Amino acid sequence: MKLAVLIPYAGAAVAAGIVAVGAFAQGMVQAKPASPIYGVVIPDGYRQWELVAPALEHEPLNELRSVLGNKTAIDAYRAGSLPFPDGTVLVKLAWKHIQSPEFESALVPGQATTVQVMVKDSKRYPASGGWGFGRFVDGKPVDEAQHETCFACHEARVKSRDYVFTRFAP
Ligand code: HEC
Repeated sequence: MKLAVLIPYAGAAVAAGIVAVGAFAQGMVQAKPASPIYGVVIPDGYRQWELVAPALEHEPLNELRSVLGNKTAIDAYRAGSLPFPDGTVLVKLAWKHIQSPEFESALVPGQATTVQVMVKDSKRYPASGGWGFGRFVDGKPVDEAQHETCFACHEARVKSRDYVFTRFAP
């Protein structure tokens, strides 16, 4: 008898647990740290995206960089069409460059410095050329003051190329 009474409770407890886990998972998704001003997050799976081009910054940061693009970005690059369509996402990874421990003339990636993201959504970001910006250090967005600089520099130099510096590397 006791068991028969307990079972419905067990069922309810399991159901409540599932609801709680669901709510927790949802909370986790919402809690993904977003950049100030733009609310841009580091996109899932970006590390598997195709390479647009590498870049080298030798002074003052001494960084190796790689720009990656999602499929929408790569399709637009291949088609040579500007502006980039809504849904385009570009991610720029940067590392300090260090001497290869195995080969004298080679510089290789050392410590990761920043992950930077540009998301094209012309309705959401009309004031910044249709682009939302995010700069992350150790997965966390940097402050608002740094985010105020993004569009200004991109606009001043590459407005005619839809605010994007990086060309597709042959
Ligand atoms: C002083 C100029 C300057 C500022 C400020 C700047 N960028 Fe850039 N950005 C560049 C240059 C130059 C490149 C080209 C790649 C390279 O040389 O590293 C670039 C490339 C990028 C790219 C790859 C797409 C492209 O345009 O080539 C992303 C993403 C990006 N920047 C995000 C940001 C974010 C986010 C901020 C603000 C937190 C920012 N940038 C601020 C100069 C700037």
